[in-house]
Amino acid sequence: MRKHIVAGNWKMNKNLQEGIALATELNNILTAEKPNCEVIIGTPFIHLAKVSDVIDHSVIGLAAENCADHASGAYTGEVSAEMVKSTGAEYVILGHSERREYYNETPEVLKEKVDLALANGLKVIFCIGESLAQREANEQEAVCKAELEGSVFHLTAEQWSNIVIAYEPIWAIGTGKTATSEQAQEIHAFIRSCVAEKFGQEAADNTSILYGGSCKGSNAPELFAKADIDGGLIGGASLKAADFKAIIDAWK
Ligand code: 13P
Repeated sequence: MRKHIVAGNWKMNKNLQEGIALATELNNILTAEKPNCEVIIGTPFIHLAKVSDVIDHSVIGLAAENCADHASGAYTGEVSAEMVKSTGAEYVILGHSERREYYNETPEVLKEKVDLALANGLKVIFCIGESLAQREANEQEAVCKAELEGSVFHLTAEQWSNIVIAYEPIWAIGTGKTATSEQAQEIHAFIRSCVAEKFGQEAADNTSILYGGSCKGSNAPELFAKADIDGGLIGGASLKAADFKAIIDAWK
């Protein structure tokens, strides 16, 4: 059956020393008291190699927040999937709405990134989710399905087993406005039905679908209690060990 996962996305926060301190603190807490779910931290590129050295990878997985859409070569400033993998990271977050919106990442570009990540042995946390205007127009299902079809539904069933989906309604990210657990459950069930249609029911049942958007210790238990919500992708509340731990404890 699918894994329960709590993943942090630090975004563009924490300098190197602060990042190492946070990872070390979290590692100390979670090695002393083993979590009841898989825990992943997503850090800026420059933190990966150092953070990789201070965490016990059997307790905390490591994710990059992005990777390049080319394998190697003259792409100044880019970081390839192979480079990410070489730091010790196991995951890469792709398709985040901030990357789609501010860095013009199209479904085609994301497809390239997904393919390169998988080819280099990384697992992918693939983000999808609608804007407020799309939710108000009741287009959330069409938007999520199109984002899946655009970048991850070309995969083989075997490749698909390395994909985690994160449903992140854009209107809930960093706004303090969480989707209700009913709203989240409804769309998670829809997303799982799309996966079942494409890869079969067993693959769908094995797919972890995370909720992201103003998730915190106070609302995580209610969200995670829903049948199709398998954990969370956490922004703001992943930046303090105690806040992140409170969400991890929602699985206790
Ligand atoms: P917040 O938890 O800060 O709303 O961010 C969610 C998110 O974008 C995680 O990727």
